[in-house]
Amino acid sequence: MTDAAQRQDLITEVESRLRRVARTVRRSMLDAMPDGEPVQWLYGPMREYPSRPGKALRPALCLSAGRAFGGDPNDLLGIAVAIELLHNAFLVHDDIADGSEMRRGRPTLAAAHGMAAALNAGDGLAIVASQVLRRATRRLDRDLADLVWGEFDTMALRTLEGQATEVGWQLDNVENVTPEDYLNLIMHKTCWYTTIHPLRVGAIVGSRGTAELTGLVRFGFHFGAAFQIRDDLLNLLGDEHTYGKEILGDLFEGKRTLPLVHLLSTAADADRELVRDHLRRTRAQRSVETVRTIRALMDDYGSITFTSEYAEGILLVAEEYFEQAFADARPGSDLDFLRALVPYVWARWR
Ligand code: IPE
Ligand code: IPE
Ligand code: MG
Ligand code: MG
Repeated sequence: MTDAAQRQDLITEVESRLRRVARTVRRSMLDAMPDGEPVQWLYGPMREYPSRPGKALRPALCLSAGRAFGGDPNDLLGIAVAIELLHNAFLVHDDIADGSEMRRGRPTLAAAHGMAAALNAGDGLAIVASQVLRRATRRLDRDLADLVWGEFDTMALRTLEGQATEVGWQLDNVENVTPEDYLNLIMHKTCWYTTIHPLRVGAIVGSRGTAELTGLVRFGFHFGAAFQIRDDLLNLLGDEHTYGKEILGDLFEGKRTLPLVHLLSTAADADRELVRDHLRRTRAQRSVETVRTIRALMDDYGSITFTSEYAEGILLVAEEYFEQAFADARPGSDLDFLRALVPYVWARWR
């Protein structure tokens, strides 16, 4: 089998399992939504992102890690659903903060219903996430439940710290971001809630609090970083229909992605000035023409190649840490799936 055929096989297999998780989690998320009034201005909008096709990576990680560490699926499902609900809440507010137009192939909540309704819907999703987690942790011993809540709070704060730092970089027009700064940012805004927390909380519940977590954090950070860097690249190279967000949206939003960090540090003076001038503007003042020019400069200066090689290095480290992180887990289909997710996040187009 050729490399390309093998990659396609991996994508098909992993995505079919992710779709199964997505179906189960979607049903539980929608079941958890309050069904009173006002439907038009709150409960309807709250159902929109959970009804759209998300990848369900976070709940899949929590469920598989939890089972691999010996957990009862009935103890894990509510926790996985709460994580996905909080993710949906983050996405609603993130789309407001970033001024994004498209999410999961459709207009963002703010674009469809206005900023105020979207803010309320995001708050509502975060509250329902807590309700679901409270119900799920009632099944656990008190100490274990406290541990899970502590993990959930930490994860939420780490994410907000990352989100706030990224907004701060834009507000203060920070131009000298290094790859290390970028890694620190994505550790907070993405890795905690996308990979580290779902794996940790799955392992904690599965092992009844006895699993060694240090290896999972090391693995989860590298795995999550590769996931986020792939997202940066898909934003530049992907197919809008499959990716579900605006292609080149990061450039319109003035995000300090890894390819942009590279471009700023390598471009000749006139080119760098063009990028800086673009970043200084508000989104409304940024032109399509300049976005296209910056995209072309990324090719000219090797920013895409740099980013790919950087991420491939990180992915190799994730692969090296995998066996150590899951040393106490049971062999089986959950562990195989988790192992397959590592190359998948880098091969994915959605
Ligand atoms: C989007 O996460 C936010 C990032 C951290 C890149 P996903 O790419 O997992 O989004 P969905 O849930 O599949 O839509
Ligand atoms: C999203 O980060 C992270 C959270 C929602 C916490 P981004 O802003 O980079 O992700 P996208 O591109 O909007 O999905
Ligand atoms: Mg965003
Ligand atoms: Mg953002």
